[in-house]
Amino acid sequence: MDDARGRERVVVHPAIVRLTHWINAAAIVMMVMSGWQIYDASPLLPFTFPGWAVLGGWLGGGIAWHLAAMWLLVGNGLLYVVYGVASRHFAHAFLPLTPRGVWRDLRRALTFQLPHKAGRYNAVQRLLYVVVLLLGIAAVLSGLGLWKPVQLSWIGAPIGGYPTLRWVHFFAMTGIVGFVAIHLLLVALVPRTLPAMITGRARIPATETGA
Ligand code: HEM
Repeated sequence: MDDARGRERVVVHPAIVRLTHWINAAAIVMMVMSGWQIYDASPLLPFTFPGWAVLGGWLGGGIAWHLAAMWLLVGNGLLYVVYGVASRHFAHAFLPLTPRGVWRDLRRALTFQLPHKAGRYNAVQRLLYVVVLLLGIAAVLSGLGLWKPVQLSWIGAPIGGYPTLRWVHFFAMTGIVGFVAIHLLLVALVPRTLPAMITGRARIPATETGA
């Protein structure tokens, strides 16, 4: 329906994208916090994560949370990826993605001149979403290799086995945490994107709906 400013309320985020996004966000928080609990039992670097940031209470509890949340992340992630490919949501939402476009939108963003159109991601967002998708795949694959180092040894074999997989897993986690920090900052800067990610709908100019 048109409002006084000639804008129409349309669906900008399909229900499956919203559902999988929020389940994924919860699963990632559980994965990261329980992962930090496991890390603290045998740190790779000369620091540990503080008690308030970890989940599980002790090593065994951390592993139990990590594996439970892993099934949620993998099942939900597969649903998102299969839908994203089959419905062409990925192609529509994340492409085109060119270095020139990313550079242009990055400069606009840093000078606060980047316009935000509901339901249309800018090139920097597209890059971030594709990168976090790849980091998620790297985290899951390296994690499976660490979980079943004998049965799934083929995962780590080409890159030096278990010790390298630990680093891959750690760096994938670091990248995902970095993504979440930037993602939350961007949502805080353009807060009107949040209700649309919950309800799916936003008001956009009728000229942009093709109506
Ligand atoms: C914690 C892990 C999270 C990951 C991995 C993640 C990832 C993503 C991805 C991939 C998209 C694009 C979805 C698509 O169209 O296919 C997206 C969109 C979005 N996310 Fe997240 N997200 C996370 C958490 C959050 C949280 C906690 C919030 C809010 C507090 C949030 C708010 C949003 C909003 C508002 C959009 C739409 C942005 C727009 O329309 O410009 N996300 N997120």
